Amino acid sequence: MAGSGEKSERDALLLEPVVEVSTSTRAPRRTRSRKLLYSCGAIYLLFHIFWAESFLHFLHGRWLDHTTESLEALCPQPEGIVPVKHKDIAEDLSGLYSTQEFKQDAIKLLSGAVQIPTEVYDHMSPVGQDPRWLAFGPFHDYLAEKFPLIYSTLKVTKVNTYALLYEWIGSDASLKPILLAAHQDVVPVDPLTVDKWVQPPYSGFFDGEYIWGRGASDDKGSLISIMIAIESLIAKGFKPSRTVVLSFGCDEEADGSNGAAKLAPEILKIYGEDAFAMLVDEGNGYSEKYGAIFAVPAIAEKGYLNAKIEVRSPGGHSSTPPEHTSIGVLASMLVQYESHPFKTTLERSAATYHTIQCFGAHGDLPRDVKKSIRRSLKSDRALREVQDYFFKVKEFKAQVGTTQAIDVITGGVKANALPESASAIINHRIALDSSLAAVEERDTALVKSLAIHYNFSLNAFEEDIIGPEGPFDGSITLTDAFKMAFDPAPITPTDPEAQAYRILSGTIIATHEASDAYKTSGKPIYVAPGVSTGNTDTRFYWKLTKNIFRYNHKSYTSKWPDIHTINEAIRAGSYFELIKFWSNLIMNVDESDEI
Ligand SMILES: *[C@@H]1O[C@H](CO)[C@@H](O)[C@H](O)[C@H]1NC(C)=O
Repeated sequence: MAGSGEKSERDALLLEPVVEVSTSTRAPRRTRSRKLLYSCGAIYLLFHIFWAESFLHFLHGRWLDHTTESLEALCPQPEGIVPVKHKDIAEDLSGLYSTQEFKQDAIKLLSGAVQIPTEVYDHMSPVGQDPRWLAFGPFHDYLAEKFPLIYSTLKVTKVNTYALLYEWIGSDASLKPILLAAHQDVVPVDPLTVDKWVQPPYSGFFDGEYIWGRGASDDKGSLISIMIAIESLIAKGFKPSRTVVLSFGCDEEADGSNGAAKLAPEILKIYGEDAFAMLVDEGNGYSEKYGAIFAVPAIAEKGYLNAKIEVRSPGGHSSTPPEHTSIGVLASMLVQYESHPFKTTLERSAATYHTIQCFGAHGDLPRDVKKSIRRSLKSDRALREVQDYFFKVKEFKAQVGTTQAIDVITGGVKANALPESASAIINHRIALDSSLAAVEERDTALVKSLAIHYNFSLNAFEEDIIGPEGPFDGSITLTDAFKMAFDPAPITPTDPEAQAYRILSGTIIATHEASDAYKTSGKPIYVAPGVSTGNTDTRFYWKLTKNIFRYNHKSYTSKWPDIHTINEAIRAGSYFELIKFWSNLIMNVDESDEI
């Protein structure tokens, strides 16, 4: 971050006009002294104006500003929440979790799960047709064998053969259940990179610190830790008053159509709309930022669209070409895209603005940035200053705005034949304050102007924009490739009344305060609501609850590249914290009568 900031400052300096001092035409001495006097006067005046300006600012900041709130008040933190009604079980569990025997078993359980490759691929045929789904059978057998208490206590339903639904029925049907989600599938290991792994990708090897392998972190670490938490709760005699539901999809890394998309209607049928107190699925974790530890549960996720542009024009011999071929027309459209990126601005209503307030309240940011954050509540100028500061972090800016990336291009078959078609896919991640319809409309407008220019017909998202009656020199179609577009998620409430957010935050804080890391460092954890740039199975679950969190209580300071690439691994210490977190969350939610 610092690097890119320095660079842009340097670039700005380079662009500064060079002031040339001419020495050849020196003015006579008297004119010179008068000039000097004027200059002094001007500097004096400027100084005063500047001083008055900053004084007014100072006044505005200190006294005229009616927001007397301190920065901390912008991101209040709840007290840590520990089980009270189930105090004895909680103490029993923390005793259990600290034993070497338990830790070794937990490592073995995850290691064994990693050793069953449950890879999914794009565009798989449905379950029952594509033999690659069969890989999930042994994984189901493994879960049944290793978690006997869960299999004898909870109701287990296999949805669409390989998606898993578990129900632990509570004693009080008037209380809303909690839903914990994870996915069984993993992204494939690229055969060309297998030898680049420090440990073989499906070894599940434990090197004393890390558990290695594809899925160790995304998302079997989460799935197995949920299972261990529940198995342990049952073993210690916990009986839920609130129903606990587990929902494990089998193709989150593809498009969810065989897993979560099938689980959601099943759960909806049993429990109904808005039936759950909260839903927690994979997502952000906690890490050190701006000198403090922040847990950033995602309270929303961006929308998604793969816009495919397909250009068609008559083929022929390339010895007598038209002025523009399909490829040429496509290329100019792609240039048009890249020269018109989406404008990203930080709005006060944005979830990410809330994240920034928390960084300002509890992080070690420069004084002037903190000041701008506080002033930005009212002042637009300060809001732009805050935006400029945080947008230097590319990942942060990407969370705020709609993005575009041209990811696929095809076209042409032979060097002496005119290309009859050319196509490209532009991947969009849609900002929370935008919509699928708005992005489709913008793409259509962008392509339309060029379609007119080239005399091509245009059909965009199944609507005729130009044509189809010709004559035209060619045609352009704009479609939702793979038909998997979706709108940005509804935003989970985090206002002071939001009990689900309070309990989640309180559980994060209490789990951290009981950790060894806290005992040695004494560094507190702060909870800041955030946005995830990636997507999860949660998009199928919007109807089930307003309180959706994408959060795994694990540290993101792993020294290994984390997920979707070589050397996926999870630190054992982090994984143990995850187990404790799930147990605490289940008990805390169970005890609360406020959600
Ligand atoms: C558009 O293309 C058709 C077919 O090549 C041609 O007949 C027509 O004159 C073109 N129109 C313009 C405005 O160039």
